Amino acid sequence: SFLGIDVGTGGTRAVIVDENGKVLSSASSDHDPFRAAHPGWAEQDPEDWWRAAQEAIADAIRFSGAGGDEITAVGLTGQMHGAVVLDVAGEVLRPALIWCDQRTGPQCDWLHEHIGRERLIELTCNPALPNFTLTKLLWIKEHEPEIFAKIAHVMCPKDYVRYRLTGTFAIDVHEASGTLLLDVTHRKWSSEVASIAGINEEWLPPLYESQEVCAEISVAAAANVGLAVGTPVVAGAGDQGAGAVGMGILKPGSVSATIGTSGVVFAATDAPTKDPLGRLHTFCHAVPGRWHVMGVTQAAGLSLRWFRDTFAKGATYDALGRSAANIRAGSDGLLWAPYLLGERTPHLDSHARAAFVGITADHTPPHFTRAILEGVAFSLRDTFTLFAELGIPVNGVRLGGGGARGPLWRRIQTDIYGYPAEVLTAEEGGAYGAALLAGVGAKAWPDTDTACEHSLQVAETLQPDPETAKVYTEAYRLYREVYPALKKIQ
Ligand code: XUL
Repeated sequence: SFLGIDVGTGGTRAVIVDENGKVLSSASSDHDPFRAAHPGWAEQDPEDWWRAAQEAIADAIRFSGAGGDEITAVGLTGQMHGAVVLDVAGEVLRPALIWCDQRTGPQCDWLHEHIGRERLIELTCNPALPNFTLTKLLWIKEHEPEIFAKIAHVMCPKDYVRYRLTGTFAIDVHEASGTLLLDVTHRKWSSEVASIAGINEEWLPPLYESQEVCAEISVAAAANVGLAVGTPVVAGAGDQGAGAVGMGILKPGSVSATIGTSGVVFAATDAPTKDPLGRLHTFCHAVPGRWHVMGVTQAAGLSLRWFRDTFAKGATYDALGRSAANIRAGSDGLLWAPYLLGERTPHLDSHARAAFVGITADHTPPHFTRAILEGVAFSLRDTFTLFAELGIPVNGVRLGGGGARGPLWRRIQTDIYGYPAEVLTAEEGGAYGAALLAGVGAKAWPDTDTACEHSLQVAETLQPDPETAKVYTEAYRLYREVYPALKKIQ
């Protein structure tokens, strides 16, 4: 069997999967909430990830009822972009600045001034955004030069857990794409970006493709987690890449829409297709010779959680969904612009703010719930609009995350995106994809395409309803007017 480990933001999850792709057991352990010494900052302690990983792995092995020595390969995934810095002895130098830390606007500006925004997109396929690792390293350089001077190793969160499990430094090309230090087109570190930014290339881990074995479980770690000494560990991928493997989004034309805290529309491509304006991320895929593009809505599931916790305390998502199902498509003119955390795609504006627009005296609480479900899907439709602009093919869409669990949000997404939609039987998610990558590394399957064909099954297919789709196309036209109109007063 194969073990997938997902070092998420809220916790670390471990999943054990057999040779048929069936989940044998899973377990998770929460992380301490991230620290934010100032509004917009977000830091976590790598030691806490390691503690949670050990607990989750040991529990998953125990729940499987089999010994850890039955696990023949391990794969890692996790929250992307975080900057973990170690000294020459391998000790963590400071808490990690994680993906949602927003402090590095000035460092993004510096990169665009010194490299040029267009040149940066040429070299790395992406513009500088505060999410990306390099901007966090530049912040440390500027504000904590005594720490910067001691850096000997830089890595992302899951790669730190790999280091603790194996003693080996390694990173995969998917994860590395989110550092802004990778030449995404050629799948190698960009010496030009590193040298202009003052990053020593020797600090960066060796690069691998996601399914490649790059390390093995050390004697010390084996004793702590119950895995066999020498178990091979594959490179794995960032949570979006591994999640795409877990949903079978591997070839051009296949697309997923995943609603968790944030929402992501992800398309596999066979070349590094760039948005010249940098509104989509263009990364190496977790499959050799392939790339992907994705658009990110910052507050997707978070919109609904915020609404429930603020205005409907104690209500379940099921109950909210049932009452919203009685409201007509289009929420009788009520619109939700979901910019609670600013927005990435398509606005790239961390100062954007959320709004309900078009409230009348006839609107009831379920109207607001429905407007939120619709507004989040409109925001994700913006990424489909960019795909169409850039000629990225979409054959259909697989729905994942919490947003695919309830029948109403599935229906709304299908009618708003306007493509046939599928929901899978198996749990999707990064840990599962990482376990499949481990299986490919262990040669249980010849490649990742085969692993997915063998393991994934469609549970439900939905077709867009033409009448409702028309209502939504008109509402989407109005939704697109909201951001520019609000921008004037924000
Ligand atoms: C991807 C992204 C998130 C994080 C946290 O660009 O920011 O997926 O990896 O989950």
